[in-house]
This record gives sequence, C-alpha cells and structure tokens, in this order.
Amino acid sequence: MAPKITVIGTGYLGATHAAAMAELGFEVLGVDISPEKVEMLSAGRVPMYEPGLEELLGRHVAGLEGSSGRLRFTTSYEEIAEFGDVHFVCVNTPQKHGEYAADMSYVDTAFEQLAPHLRRPCLVVGKSTVPVGSAARLADRLAELAPVGEDAELAWNPEFLREGFAVQDTLHPDRIVVGVTSERAEKQLREVYQTPVAEGSPFIVTDYPTAELVKASANSFLATKISFINAMAEVCEAADGDVVKLAEAIGHDERIGKKFLRAGIGFGGGCLPKDLRAFMARAGELGVDQALTFLREIDSINMRRRGQMVELTREALGGGSFLGKRVTVLGATFKPDSDDVRDSPALNVAGQIHLQGGQVTVYDPKGIENARRLFPTLGYAPTALDAARGADVVLHLTEWQEFRDLDPAALGQAVAERRILDGRNALDPELWREAGWTYRALGRPRA
Ligand code: UDX
Repeated sequence: MAPKITVIGTGYLGATHAAAMAELGFEVLGVDISPEKVEMLSAGRVPMYEPGLEELLGRHVAGLEGSSGRLRFTTSYEEIAEFGDVHFVCVNTPQKHGEYAADMSYVDTAFEQLAPHLRRPCLVVGKSTVPVGSAARLADRLAELAPVGEDAELAWNPEFLREGFAVQDTLHPDRIVVGVTSERAEKQLREVYQTPVAEGSPFIVTDYPTAELVKASANSFLATKISFINAMAEVCEAADGDVVKLAEAIGHDERIGKKFLRAGIGFGGGCLPKDLRAFMARAGELGVDQALTFLREIDSINMRRRGQMVELTREALGGGSFLGKRVTVLGATFKPDSDDVRDSPALNVAGQIHLQGGQVTVYDPKGIENARRLFPTLGYAPTALDAARGADVVLHLTEWQEFRDLDPAALGQAVAERRILDGRNALDPELWREAGWTYRALGRPRA
C-alpha cells in the first residue's frame, strides 16, 4: 500500500510539499500550530503569493468541489502520528536574533511534539535547512522519545525549491538528495519520489552530514556567483566597463555558465542570506571557520550593493541631500513572482532613501501589503504610473515582467524628470533612452 504522508509546518515549503505529494497520488495530512493557517489552507487558500500553488491545493483539498480529497490539514500532532507512515518536517530555521547561527527552536519543537505520539513504525524526514550535525542529534532524540523506539527512523532530505517556481521545483526536482542510515529508509523514499525519479530526477543517497551540507554548499555557491558578478560590476564602474556584456561573454564558457550572473543590487530573501551566515557560524563551531572566511566577503559585497544603489541615486539627483526629492521605487519584493519582502534589497534601498529625507513612493505587483507591514512609513501607490507621478528619479529594483513591459513614453508623461536607474540590469537601455530618459545602471557605462 502507498505510504500515507504528513507534512509538519505549512509555510512556503510545507504547503507546497503537501500539495505536491497529493498531486503525486498520496493521502496527505498537514499540521500547523496556527489554527488560522489550517483554516485558510483547508478552504483551499494560500497565505502567500506563489504561482500555481492555489490551483494545486484546489485540486486536492478535501471538501472542495471537484477535488481528489487527498489533502487535509489539522493542528493535532496526535492525529498526524496516528495517520502517517512518512512524516516530512518542513518548519523554518530563521537567523537567530543578534547572531549568525540558525534558530533551531521550530525544528526541535516539531520533533518534541511529534515523537511521543509515534506508536507505529514510520520514517521521519527532515526537509528544513539545518546546521550540519542536527540530523544525528535529532535521530537520537527520536529514538529516546518515540514509544515505538528504533522503528521510528530518521532521514534527511534537503529542499532546493525557489520561490516563484516552488510548485514546479517540488513536482519536478532537478535532484533528490536523501541522507539515510538504512536500506529501509532509502526504499521508502524511493517509493515516495517514484514519479519524479521515473521522469529522470537524479536520486542521490548519502549519509546525514553530507545531505545537510549539500544544501548549505549549494546556497553558498549560488550566493558566491551573484557576489562575484557584483564585484565585477564594482570594477566595471571604476574602469568604465559594462558588466552585462562581461557576464554574457564569460557565461559562454560552459564551466562558468550564464545563470546567476545578473549583476544588480544583490540577493535577499528568507534563504540565501541567513543560510550563508548559519553556515559560517556552524563552521566556526566545527573549528573550520577559515574554510568559509570567503563567505564573509560574499555577504559584504552583497550588502554593499544596497548602499551603492543609494549613492547612484544621490548622484543622479545632482549629489547632496535627498530632502524634498521625489523618488519612485518599482519593486518591493526580494525577487519577482513572489510577495516575499524578507531581507529585500529593494525595500532596503527604499528605506535608506526615505530615512535620509527622500519622499519615496513604492509600487510592487504583489508585495505592497507585506511591504507596508514591514515599512509603514514609506509611500505606496496602486500602479507603477501612480507611483511615478512627479518623480525626480525612478528606481527599478525588482525585475517583474510588468516593469519590462512598461511604456517609457507613457511613464515619461507622469514624471517630473525622465531619469531611470536600473538596479537589476533587466530593462532595455535603448528603449528608455529613445523615449528621452537618462538610463543608468550599476556596473554599466553612462551613455
Ligand atoms: C534560493 C535558492 O535558489 C534555492 O535553491 C534554495 O532552496 C532557497 O534559496 P530563492 O530564495 O527563492 O531560492 O531565490 P533565488 O532565485 O535563488 O534568488 C535569490 C536572490 O538573488 C534574489 O534576491 C535575486 O533577485 C538575486 N539574484 C539572483 C541576483 O541578484 N542575480 C542573479 O543572477 C540571480
């Protein structure tokens, strides 16, 4: 019989994983400590913007018209322990307040809540991003607390999904990595991932520490690629070179590759920055901090971009103070196709200019509500055109398709000065210049 699946924590990762598991044909029960979230998901609604997720939920949540009925949600750990053969732990591990290390309290609590109810053989699968060594510790804790003892096994199965592509990445992962200590665990996970494996997703079996490290090193590599090209942008700025051309040219080398070489105001979000820092903290604990010292530089190149965007704006406005200047910010989320504003470079730049006296008006296709909650003193507008009215300068800070589709001539009618600064190197400079705009971008020549 197909294993019954539970998902612990129904945030970004968990809600998507639960819906994807139902799509793959499994009976799924999700658990969350928040009754509001459970109520919302049970009605087929998603607490965040993620393309395709609401449709996927709609197809499977029990009680919805025309659904498969395979997906339900609850707040009871006892219920999921009775129900499940495979329990996926999908709670988050934010950065600890005032420290680089990851806050493991949600993961620890999930295990403490689940384990005492485990009375039948099962596999607990950690998907959360954790410091290396956590799985071994949690396996011991599981054996200690579960009434079924060693028949409650642990596996570690990191998640690589990208926001904005969460559904696609979960249903068609580019690789599946499982850290296991027994053949039984491996077999069970092969069964769970049978469909994507049959489609060609590589299935990589490792021990616990390697599985944990795969996630940390993949994110570090991606962050390094972005900061590398941003460092090149700094040099291009000083030498009057063009970082976009440079990225295109080096990207043709297959060993380098074209992806993740978009220079701009850098990376943000709920994953890359905090995972990088947690990795450094963990390396320090293991006595190999020197091995990851370079990540400090990756982090600081990245954070410097935000300040450089503020300075480019100041320069575009003729230098001096932002007092009385009207600044339009296009984009609030940390990346397009998401409503996530956690550690968003765009909002950070908007906030800095606002705090220095600029009159900042922000527009974002999906992120305004979240942005307003985080930064209530910024101005917000319902459309790009409204945001641009009377602007002395327009900043393009998150590369939504909607902004690439803007008509420079129409926007030009609304602003006071046709000045646009592209913080993502995603607009077509020619198009804007032809419509009479002064176009500038980080790492590119002026004219
Ligand atoms: C990332 C990883 O890609 C994913 O595998 C992991 O599971 C979680 O962290 P995500 O946070 O969704 O996913 O965003 P990603 O698409 O990686 O982008 C991160 C940031 O880098 C964004 O702010 C984006 O704008 C920026 N970025 C990306 C660049 O500045 N330049 C690039 O070339 C690519």
